[in-house]
Amino acid sequence: GFSWKLADHPKLPKGKLVAMIVLDGWGEASPDKYNCIHVAETPTMDSLKNGAPDKWRLVRAHGTAVGLPTEDDMGNSEVGHNALGAGRIYAQGAKLVDLALASGKIYEDEGFNYIKESFPTNTLHLIGLMSDGGVHSRLDQLQLLLKGASQHGAKRIRVHVLTDGRDVLDGSSVGFAEILDAELSDLRSKGIDAQVASGGGRMYVTMDRYENDWEVVKRGWDAQVLGEAPHKFKNVVEAIKTLRQAPGANDQYLPPFVIVDDSGKPVGPIVDGDAVVTFNFRADRMTMLAQALEYENFDKFDRVRVPKIRYAGMLQYDGELKLPSHYLVSPPLIERTSGEYLVHNGVRTFACSETVKFGHVTFFWNGNRSGYFNSELEEYVEIPSDSGITFNVQPKMKALEIGEKTRDAILSGRFDQVRVNIPNGDMVGHTGDVEATVVACKAADEAVKMIIDAVEQVGGIYVVTADHGNAEDMVKRNKKGEPLLKDGEVQILTSHTLQPVPIAIGGPGLAAGVKFRKDVPSGGLANVAATVMNLHGFVAPDDYETTLIEVVD
Ligand code: 3PG
Ligand code: CO
Repeated sequence: GFSWKLADHPKLPKGKLVAMIVLDGWGEASPDKYNCIHVAETPTMDSLKNGAPDKWRLVRAHGTAVGLPTEDDMGNSEVGHNALGAGRIYAQGAKLVDLALASGKIYEDEGFNYIKESFPTNTLHLIGLMSDGGVHSRLDQLQLLLKGASQHGAKRIRVHVLTDGRDVLDGSSVGFAEILDAELSDLRSKGIDAQVASGGGRMYVTMDRYENDWEVVKRGWDAQVLGEAPHKFKNVVEAIKTLRQAPGANDQYLPPFVIVDDSGKPVGPIVDGDAVVTFNFRADRMTMLAQALEYENFDKFDRVRVPKIRYAGMLQYDGELKLPSHYLVSPPLIERTSGEYLVHNGVRTFACSETVKFGHVTFFWNGNRSGYFNSELEEYVEIPSDSGITFNVQPKMKALEIGEKTRDAILSGRFDQVRVNIPNGDMVGHTGDVEATVVACKAADEAVKMIIDAVEQVGGIYVVTADHGNAEDMVKRNKKGEPLLKDGEVQILTSHTLQPVPIAIGGPGLAAGVKFRKDVPSGGLANVAATVMNLHGFVAPDDYETTLIEVVD
């Protein structure tokens, strides 16, 4: 039968400390002035790259290598950390929703049948990110869902949009709103009362994560549920165009707005009996709203009015909390992650990041599961992030603090594995501020040094890698790779990239003869888990993606 026990590695010893360092948003690209990693002083990462050639390589971090629908899909932290932790490639939310929509199965399953009960008498509300980034949601999926829901009985539909500019170019929200508006007007011509009801920028309205700032969710609640917001418009395109004119305005941070009718009344507050779907497939930035919509006992902010609704998520966002309890598409079932195996084999683990990435090395790493596998053997430390700021004003973020805490954990001798996410390249990269991103990359490099120094002191091993690209390319390019101009200016890329990421191994504890194999040229993030298990002295389970290392005598 099944056993958690891992076989001993024939050549590698147990008991070495392994430091697993994930640089968020740190891809590999040609030197260029928009490659902030290249521009920044990054002596630690440079020395890994320029060190032993068989201890540094690139791995794939986007597209099908991480379970995304196509090779045009950039990587992201959810799928990247899932792959790193699980050691296998799962069809991810984006793909699962595509399949369920294409086959029509989405309309047959429990979640849709549950919300459908509201259709004869009430409104269907759809809340989510209006984007074609494919990271949290996709507009084409929303369009299909709108069509499908109306064909399956929805007569009154209200869409609550969140503008992106983070997984897609800033300013693209206008075009998306036009597409959505046309779709809704098409539905109206077929007798469906369908319109946008509210909106706001994703980073200021609704899509906070890991409980960094509940005010963000409250702003969304007020607009979506209560129909209250500081700005009122007749139409979503007009709303976005107007709000973008304010100095410094951008898609990510648009203030909340509601759409009102001719008499000034909001067109779509959420009321008793309504159905609500949050149409993002990705979990991290939807679970806070899901709690507000679903939990009877809730004290994070004053909800003022709590409508009795039928609520379903596009996916179930948290498998451990079973949140939300109704959902349209089953999430990937990620079981037997490397973290769970290692704990069963006595590996004592420390995981750390700051709030905005904390769930990446815990929740995502562990297959979208919150909490410990074994609290006796694991310690997860969250360093509070600054909230209410954009990280270009604080590009060093908490890198130093993460480095210090991790160093202390290593030196304490209490752990066999330390696992960290260093967020700077990604979080500052998303602001589109090139200068600040250079500062961010330097700070990330310093944190890596701090951890590697501690590894040296205890005779351990380090594995340094990244979850996807971001800071290595800050500009939109044409097919030839040249920066694309718009009105004479380069278009800044706030999003992730399709680039591969580096992985380096080393440290005094690394057995002589360990090197990267040459026969896994298309290796990706999912190959890292087996590699790390080897470094702990174990052979990975058979169904894991193969290890990246070999031991030559
Ligand atoms: C975000 O949620 O901040 C971005 O959409 C994706 O970034 P991440 O995948 O690095 O978290
Ligand atoms: Co990111």
